[in-house]
Amino acid sequence: MKTLVILGAGQFGRSCSSLINTEFFRITAFGDNSAALRGAFLDRIPVLSVEEAVASGPDSVLIAVSDEERSRALLQQAQAAGYSGPVLFLRDLRQLLDIRSAVLCRMADRLESGAVAGAIGELGVYRGFTARKLNALFPRRPLYLFDTFEGFSARDIKEETARSCSFAREGEFSDTSEQLVLSLLPFPEQAVIRKGFFPDTAEGLEHMTYALVSLDADLYAPILAGLRYFYPRLSPGGMILLHDYNNGRFRGVRQAADEYEAEAGPLSLVPLCDLHGTAVIVKPA
Ligand SMILES: C[S@@+](CC[C@H](N)C(=O)[O-])C[C@H]1O[C@@H](n2cnc3c(N)ncnc32)[C@H](O)[C@@H]1O
Repeated sequence: MKTLVILGAGQFGRSCSSLINTEFFRITAFGDNSAALRGAFLDRIPVLSVEEAVASGPDSVLIAVSDEERSRALLQQAQAAGYSGPVLFLRDLRQLLDIRSAVLCRMADRLESGAVAGAIGELGVYRGFTARKLNALFPRRPLYLFDTFEGFSARDIKEETARSCSFAREGEFSDTSEQLVLSLLPFPEQAVIRKGFFPDTAEGLEHMTYALVSLDADLYAPILAGLRYFYPRLSPGGMILLHDYNNGRFRGVRQAADEYEAEAGPLSLVPLCDLHGTAVIVKPA
């Protein structure tokens, strides 16, 4: 069995730790530059400084941050501390493998082959990365896209901050527009853009039925509002892809799901092992 040190103990590092094949690798430590994390245990794995973690002599190091600059800085730090063994970069693995998109494809197969009725929806569209995939997978279904297209709203951030769910800020994700998203869609004629503050933008759509919904608004308030609007309108066999359910950065998503279960009853919810901590909710047939 080889030993592995994970550099980066944030959301991605922690998600990686549960993806590692423990038949081949034993994770001995996280290495992280955050003094706040130092000395903690994450899933029973100690968090050390980068220097301490590599000094333990692992067989391999995994650099588990997403941007290139930080990846390079961590590599240099490990090398400066004397590490010269093999290095894996999450950044490269992410470009190669995408669990969340793969799950979306399988969900689409299932919904189309089982003829689950309804439109496709997304709350939290941003620059249309997921919307484009949804539109490509369901060319014959209307795609309802809900977003402020001006980033997080002051109203939601006030509640988010009061509940200490995250450090999200008003206006984050504002560098987008509905025109940009429409220009990326392979079947833009299927898109129905609902621009503005959700749930206000669901007004007039009480009659809808959905087959698949991507809930990706990050924050407690819109996620709770999203579950309240979409779940009752989901066809039997329909599914919700709930982004960030197990995400240490956006803790409000889990809180919203727990609250919705307390008011509406237990959900059939399956957590996935992707990097963002997504969960799938299935409406019983
Ligand atoms: C993480 S981004 C979505 C990412 C997108 N699904 C993708 O695949 O790239 C979150 C989005 O949720 C939107 N959002 C959050 N709260 C909202 C609300 N109350 N009403 C409308 N949009 C909201 C933000 O404007 C932002 O664009």
